[in-house]
Amino acid sequence: MVLGVAGGIAAYKAVEVCRRLVDAGVHVAPVLTADAQRFVGAVTFSAVASEPARTSLWDAPEPIPHTHLGQSADLIVVAPATANVIGKYAAGISDDLLTATLLATRAPVLVCPAMHTEMWEHVAVQENIATLRRRGVHVLEPEAGRLAGGDVGAGRLAEPGVIAETALALLAGGIGALTGVSVLVTAGGTREAIDPVRFVGNRSSGKMGHAVAREAARRGARVTLVTTTTPVAPIAGEIVPVESADAMHEAVMAHAAGADVVVMAAAVADFRPKAVADQKLKKGDGVPEVVLEPTIDILSALGRAKRPGQFLVGFAAETESVVEHAAAKLRAKNVDLMVANDVAAEDSGFEVDTNRAVLLDSTGRALELPLMGKDALAGLILDRVADAVAKKEPQQA
Ligand code: PMT
Repeated sequence: MVLGVAGGIAAYKAVEVCRRLVDAGVHVAPVLTADAQRFVGAVTFSAVASEPARTSLWDAPEPIPHTHLGQSADLIVVAPATANVIGKYAAGISDDLLTATLLATRAPVLVCPAMHTEMWEHVAVQENIATLRRRGVHVLEPEAGRLAGGDVGAGRLAEPGVIAETALALLAGGIGALTGVSVLVTAGGTREAIDPVRFVGNRSSGKMGHAVAREAARRGARVTLVTTTTPVAPIAGEIVPVESADAMHEAVMAHAAGADVVVMAAAVADFRPKAVADQKLKKGDGVPEVVLEPTIDILSALGRAKRPGQFLVGFAAETESVVEHAAAKLRAKNVDLMVANDVAAEDSGFEVDTNRAVLLDSTGRALELPLMGKDALAGLILDRVADAVAKKEPQQA
C-alpha cells in the first residue's frame, strides 16, 4: 500500500496511520510531498513503515518510482490530502512523486482530506472532491473539531484508527459484499435513571454490537452505530451515543428509514422507573419504592415499520429453551434473522469476548454454531445479511 502524505499539520497523524497498518500486516510504502516534510521528517516514516519513505521523483532507489509504486500498489491512501493535492489530482497534474503516482495507478485510492473549514467548504475544493468521487475515488470525509491555530470547525483529518480500518476494508476486497449497503447497528445495555446518579441497567458491554458494526464497515457498508458504550477499537462509521431505551428508540427510528439492514444487538431495558427523582435520593429518607413501567420495544417497532427489502436482525438473550423462545420472538417481532444467544454459560453472552448462538431465519431453518469469538460470529451474521442483500438486488433492477 502506498501512503501519500501531503503538507498539512495533520501529517503527524499519518505516522499513526502508518504504524497501525504495518501492525495489521500491511506492507506500507510512504510517499511524502515536499511540504509534508515541513511538518514531519521522512526518517520518522521510514522508521515505522515497511520500506524507506520516498520524497522525490528524482532521487528514489528506482529510476521511475511513480510507475513502480502505482503499478505495484493494491491501494493508495492520501492522508492528509490538502486542497492543493486534491486540486492537482482532480485536474490530472503530476508535478511531484505523489501526484505522479496517483495518475500512474489502477489501484483503488482513498483520499482523506484535512484543511481549514473555509478551504474545505470552498466551492473549488467541493467540486474537485465531487470529480474524484465520480471517478470512483473513495473519500473519507473530514471530521468537525479543533483545527490548527485553535480554530474549531469541519476539516479535521478523520481519526487515524478510522483511516486504517477503512484502508483495511478496501484492501480486504471484502468491500464488495456490503458496498453501498447502509447498516444500522445497536450495542450495549441501556441505563434507566432512578435519580441523577443511579440507574437500572444490565451487563451488556457493547462488544457484540461493536463487532457487527466493525465487520460491516470492513465489508464496505455505510455504518451507523447507536451505542451506550464507547467502542474500544475504531469503527469506520457514524457513532451515535445514547443512554436510555427512550434515547435509543429515538436514534434508531431517526436512522431506520434510510437503513437497508438493522441489527439490534443492544440489551434494551424492558422496564424503567416510572418516576425519576430530580435530586439524589437520600439514604436518611428511608428505602425508596421504585415502581417500574415498560419501555418501548424498539425491535417490534422496527418490525412493524419494516419496508419491503429491509432486513432485520434481532438478538434473543436466553437462559433456557433458547431456540423455542428465540423463535417466538422472531415471529412476534417480524424479524428476518434471529441470533438466539445462550447467555447462561460463563463463556457466552454478556461481557465476554466469545459467544454461542443459533441462527434462526424466518423460514424456520436453524443453524447451531459452536462457541466462537464475537468477531467471528459477527462475520457469520453478516454473511447471511450479504446473501439476503444479494438476493434482493435482482428484484429491484
Ligand atoms: O454487549 P455484550 O456484552 O457483548 O453482550 C452481547 C449481548 C448478550 C447483549 C447480545 O449478544 C444480545 O444477546 N443482545 C440482545 C439482548 C436482549 O435484550 O435480548 P432480548 O431477548 O431481551 O430482546 C430481544 C430483541 O429485542 C433484541 O434484539 C433487543 O435488542 C430487542 N429489544 C428488547 C427490548 C426492547 N425494549 N427493545 C428492543 O428492541
